[in-house]
Amino acid sequence: MMIKTLCDAALSVLNTKDASQKAHHSRAMVELWRDGTLAKVGLTNETPMRPARPDAPILCDPRDMPKRGKAGSLKSKKALLHALAHIELNAIDLAWDIMARFSYLSDENASEGFTLPREFFDDWAKVADDEAKHFLMLNGRMNDFDCAYGDLPAHDGLWESSIKTADDFAARLAVVPMVLEARGLDVTPHMIESMKKFDDDISADLLQIIHDDEITHVRAGTVWFESWCAYHNLDIEITWQDLVQKYFYKTLKPPFNHPSRSEAGLLRQWYEPLMEEEPRNAKKAAT
Ligand SMILES: [Fe+2]
Ligand SMILES: [Fe+2]
Repeated sequence: MMIKTLCDAALSVLNTKDASQKAHHSRAMVELWRDGTLAKVGLTNETPMRPARPDAPILCDPRDMPKRGKAGSLKSKKALLHALAHIELNAIDLAWDIMARFSYLSDENASEGFTLPREFFDDWAKVADDEAKHFLMLNGRMNDFDCAYGDLPAHDGLWESSIKTADDFAARLAVVPMVLEARGLDVTPHMIESMKKFDDDISADLLQIIHDDEITHVRAGTVWFESWCAYHNLDIEITWQDLVQKYFYKTLKPPFNHPSRSEAGLLRQWYEPLMEEEPRNAKKAAT
């Protein structure tokens, strides 16, 4: 297939099976978008419902995932890095999926109604580049421990939100960057702390890079969600809460990383009302 547009690039990444190849290809395609080789967004109605994935890891039910092992053990570290790499691989596909699936909203293709300017695609191209970078960093770190992506099982819950929101642009933004990626901001600082505690500064630094990049992804989601709400004259808070409850769950899991969430443009008044009741022994939320 000749790759002439951003949509062609998106389909070629989504249809790449091998994980490392997908990541390298994702970065190369973003480069072509940035240097103008791919001058147009283009249009496609061939976005696959499920992207191509490697034969390994075996995807299992979240309840059948093996235990990670004792905290601080090499086994648990490998399991954590593997789980994160799996999330990043999904994130590469999610970034290209939103660009291709909602390409009909691009101002090249839609003459009226809500349209997405080039800046939207620039933002998601950056996400696609970052996620590929994250995957390759994590896989590289696993290689340091004689392990690689595919060696351990992974669970298949991650693509579900993409399928559920395939027909609704606002719901996709409300759930994927503004809930799932925001959840990453909540949990990563604890992982960084535990890596440091077990004297693994290399992994800690890598997770810090991921955390800082992820703030920009959540922010992109928030900015474009706000723009969609403004166009439709809708209240952001109520619209977001309704979409989260319709397409995700009724509640969100604390504790929240308020400083990082606020840097990403998420307001406490949006997400706190959806907070699941905190279990009694839970750590105090970061303030
Ligand atoms: Fe990432
Ligand atoms: Fe991300």
